[in-house]
Amino acid sequence: MHTTRSEMGRTQDVHCCRGPCLTPDYREINRRAWAELADHGYPSTRPYGPHHLSRARELLDPQEWISWDTVKSVLCLGAGGGQQVPLLASLGYRVTAVDLSPEQLERDWAVAEKLGLEVELIEGDMADLSALHGREFDLVYQAISACYLPDVRQLYGEITRVLRPGGHYRVEHANPVSLQLSDPNGWDGNGYRLVRPQGAEQPVAWTLPGGPNSPPCWHYIHPLDDLIGGLGDAGFVLLHFAERKAADPSAEPGTYGHLASYVPPFLTLVAQLGHPG
Ligand SMILES: C[S@@+](CC[C@H](N)C(=O)[O-])C[C@H]1O[C@@H](n2cnc3c(N)ncnc32)[C@H](O)[C@@H]1O
Repeated sequence: MHTTRSEMGRTQDVHCCRGPCLTPDYREINRRAWAELADHGYPSTRPYGPHHLSRARELLDPQEWISWDTVKSVLCLGAGGGQQVPLLASLGYRVTAVDLSPEQLERDWAVAEKLGLEVELIEGDMADLSALHGREFDLVYQAISACYLPDVRQLYGEITRVLRPGGHYRVEHANPVSLQLSDPNGWDGNGYRLVRPQGAEQPVAWTLPGGPNSPPCWHYIHPLDDLIGGLGDAGFVLLHFAERKAADPSAEPGTYGHLASYVPPFLTLVAQLGHPG
């Protein structure tokens, strides 16, 4: 078996840059949530098969923004589930992955083992990468997951400590406006209602498929000041930015495609860490 696993962060206190946290530990809440999502076969927890592996580069980088010829080592963040991690390893890159959820890492492990791929899997909170400080990855590849962290600027700071100067950071973010909605299916006949202010520090709790008795999943609304502006402040240069288009103007009001005509669901960014001096 070529897969290694270690664990970090499980028992540490939550450190929020904006002051002491008054809420329970977001990591415990969301670790339980992802166990529940995995149990229900939520799409983000369904491992990729041969059909996906044959289209690895296209799935990982549909816009062809990443300079793959400069990449040998990749750190995946919040990308568990047997999807991006084995795709990257199948292309011959040295892959390390940090994810909060043992169930999600289990899926990466299972696909890697089946294909005889070598991956390093670390269970932990990506807001604390101290176990990796001193390593210099060529690429940090983050799947949609910053919305599960209270402080995205803390995350960006951590990434600068594990990326080599000139290295690239590719990330998809959930559009924060989606989290301000009263209900993503909530077309009221005229529009969708924004009911949560930007910059609210309290998490938005999502009820999971198991219903109100199942654990919630906590999401945080990060203003663009932090999501995009925070990159420059951390020392990155933004190279590419796009909204992921999913609009279907002919879709029924209150559906995913219809809402996407108003609020593109995801933002994709590629940034480069500035050279020192
Ligand atoms: C929406 S999934 C993204 C990955 C999935 N392969 C996909 O493409 O949909 C979010 C992932 O972020 C992970 N996650 C949530 N909070 C995290 C944290 N604080 N640190 C690291 N990973 C986290 C979850 O366990 C989950 O695997």
